[in-house]
Amino acid sequence: MLNLAKPCAIFLLLAVSFSAQAQRPLLPVPAQATWHAGYYRFATAPLLALHRQTTGPATSTDESYHLRVTAAGASLTAVGPLGIQRGLATFRQVIESTPRGWRAQLCDIQDAPRFAWRGLLLDAARHFLPVPVVKRNLDGMAAVKLNVLHWHLCDDQGWRVESKLFPRLHTVAGATGYYTQAEVREVVRYAAQRGIRVVPEFDLPGHTGALLAAYPRLGSNDSIKAVPTRWGTSQNWALLDPTRESTYTMLDSVLTEMSGLFPDKYFHIGGDENDGRQWRRTPRIAAFMQTNGFVKPGTTVPDKHQLQTYFNRRMLVIIQKLGKTMVGWDEILGPDLPAPIVVESWRGPKAVAEAVRLGHPALRAHGYYLDLNYSAATHYAADPLQGVPDSLASRVLGGEAAMWAEFADSVIYDSRVWPRAAAVAERLWSPAALTQDVPDMYRRLAFVSSELEALGLRHRRAPVALLRQLASPYPAALPALQTLASLAEPVKDYKRHFQGFKYTTETPLTRLVDAAPAESDVARRFGATADSLLASLSIGVPTFPATPPKLSPASQRQLASLRRQVADWQGIPEALTPLFALNPGLAEYAPLAVQLGLVANLLAPRLTQLEQGQPAVPAAQAAAKIQLDAAQKPVGQAELAIVGAARRLLGL
Ligand code: ACM
Repeated sequence: MLNLAKPCAIFLLLAVSFSAQAQRPLLPVPAQATWHAGYYRFATAPLLALHRQTTGPATSTDESYHLRVTAAGASLTAVGPLGIQRGLATFRQVIESTPRGWRAQLCDIQDAPRFAWRGLLLDAARHFLPVPVVKRNLDGMAAVKLNVLHWHLCDDQGWRVESKLFPRLHTVAGATGYYTQAEVREVVRYAAQRGIRVVPEFDLPGHTGALLAAYPRLGSNDSIKAVPTRWGTSQNWALLDPTRESTYTMLDSVLTEMSGLFPDKYFHIGGDENDGRQWRRTPRIAAFMQTNGFVKPGTTVPDKHQLQTYFNRRMLVIIQKLGKTMVGWDEILGPDLPAPIVVESWRGPKAVAEAVRLGHPALRAHGYYLDLNYSAATHYAADPLQGVPDSLASRVLGGEAAMWAEFADSVIYDSRVWPRAAAVAERLWSPAALTQDVPDMYRRLAFVSSELEALGLRHRRAPVALLRQLASPYPAALPALQTLASLAEPVKDYKRHFQGFKYTTETPLTRLVDAAPAESDVARRFGATADSLLASLSIGVPTFPATPPKLSPASQRQLASLRRQVADWQGIPEALTPLFALNPGLAEYAPLAVQLGLVANLLAPRLTQLEQGQPAVPAAQAAAKIQLDAAQKPVGQAELAIVGAARRLLGL
């Protein structure tokens, strides 16, 4: 038991009033929390006392803790250091600063995670993420009780770890950035201090363009001449040659070297997105498949899946020799895959159910892909146990939020991870029954977002800095540019690859789309206000003589808030015109500003109609629909996030 309060530093003030809303906005929500009236008040800032408190059996994986704040002080009890870590993360959210100093509401919190594996995938391969970026994301993970850094360390566009045995891996394949071995150890140490395990991913046998640029003799053919700079596997069908013993000799050496850097028991070998065409089209490899019977049943057609299972089995021997448990993406799943291998689902929840049915431990990443720019609510709705029978639920280890970095460099990376990763963290930590309330999740997410920024993450600051840079030729337009960006979101799913703009590893990620939030808070709140207003109005009920409905004070406030925003948006195109003229690089977004102005021009009279209880006029609705359809079209791979709310307000 750890006593966080020094008796001399305590003085207690009973709160005069107490209400349920006074509960601190904890995220992830704890398994059990009882709140009492009153506060414990600190004489000094309590954060100063919050680190270095990890005592207890060093090997325990138990993350449960018991945090009590009483009139006498705060106590945190846990079986081991991980529980202390998690309890401290909660304590950080319990305490609050007030003009009169720090205080903590009296409470009794008993907590433990729902899943043991709560990961975040950081993709350092597509764009290199320097150590400080990784470290501050580890700080964010600890704050929301994520406990596994899945470090994606190589891909077609880069191999990111120094190799003493195969130096071309970092000098050639990692020429655009790599971690020295000392840096890797430092990150692993930093993570361990925060109760976070580090699982490295070395993606094999596909996604190996960079590796093959460094060591072409390992390839199925000689198509890779240099480290690829384009995105997408269709550009880079680079595959290792799984038929040659020399491939395994090299992989044994390099993975042994790499595994020495990572003490965690799990080792991820990727295994995703091998379409097998290089194997089928290389006569030597096709012959190997036929000789070994790796053919589609009843035919002589080579079956890449069977060859990949052969490759996986060879990998398993290496990984097991290193004393590790192998993890791979769901493509590796098949009836012949040895059961100790952990399967991570990214293509759909079915793979989790299928993996556990076949006896594998499983992880869910599908539904938690942050790079696809879906809302926190969307991720929150995905559950690792979806479709899994109760009898097999214990095989589901947990899940991972994943932030692939094709469209995120180290500058904007945080803003693509946070705060949405915290919604995944809650899904994986908190009891499912306590986490059904989406508006409450968003309420708490806003607090966590501030907490994370205060911890050093740059998810808010970096986009603002980018916009300031874009507005620098005409700084007076910065507020308008911020408004436009705050209402835009990058296109969702994988669409950004397919909108006519050719991206490479060298493309600067400094356009408006890169400063736009993955999920627009402003648009979400506007939509929520609009929905609440619409629900409280009785529209279209004719009265005679026509009298405007009496609006409740709440509806009046909502209407006024919508009005203010819409009026602001009406002025955006004009406010930005000089900036578009002075910054030609930004001018591609002039149509987006025009679209915003048009939507606002539709909404302004509609809000007046709503105030007066008038139904929408069908002819006007038809015209509005055409305009809104046009306003929904992406501009510069960004789209306006308020069009849905506008449709609802217009009764469409
Ligand atoms: C993946 O997204 N290809 C694992």
